[in-house]
Amino acid sequence: MLSRPSKDNIVLVGLMGAGKSSVGRRLAQALDLPFTDADNEITKAAGCSIEDIFELYGEAAFRDGERRVIARILDCGPQILATGGGAFIDPSIRARIKEKGISVWLRADIEVLYERTHRRTHRPLLNNDDPRGTLAGLIEQRYPIYAEADVIVDTAEEGPDMTAKQVLDGLRAFSPCFPIKAVSDP
Ligand code: S3P
Repeated sequence: MLSRPSKDNIVLVGLMGAGKSSVGRRLAQALDLPFTDADNEITKAAGCSIEDIFELYGEAAFRDGERRVIARILDCGPQILATGGGAFIDPSIRARIKEKGISVWLRADIEVLYERTHRRTHRPLLNNDDPRGTLAGLIEQRYPIYAEADVIVDTAEEGPDMTAKQVLDGLRAFSPCFPIKAVSDP
């Protein structure tokens, strides 16, 4: 009997504003795989928005939910999975991603991240008087950990189609025999 390969998820990690969801959708289309957004699954499971989870129950409760939901999603590959920015920082989620997927860090500098996030209000960690300072702190704290990802792709002004193409190149370089069959590159 054929068994599914255990590493059949492609998991996008990186800070808020890195483009994980928009690039993930394009990758899913190019590879003819389902796309899953972990934050959407968390809000579905909780029955309320991420802002509400933070406000009503606190960040620790959000992280617990995130851990459970991502563990469940990773068992349902093959798929492209976009994770929330804090997911890969959690040691147990990171271990699970390493076991069940190929991780791709979308790396961006602070100007790009700030530009892409500062007009939006749905990210509780950035709803404060100094979102740029918050991003700078998160970059310092998290970038050494995102650097453990299998594939690293820099993203700036080039747009999600080009970034998706760079991710496909990175995946092929990382694992030439990984069962990725691009229908057509984006
Ligand atoms: C978070 C990132 C958010 C979301 C939550 C916490 C983080 O996801 O999971 O607000 O800790 O960086 P995005 O990275 O998709 O914005």
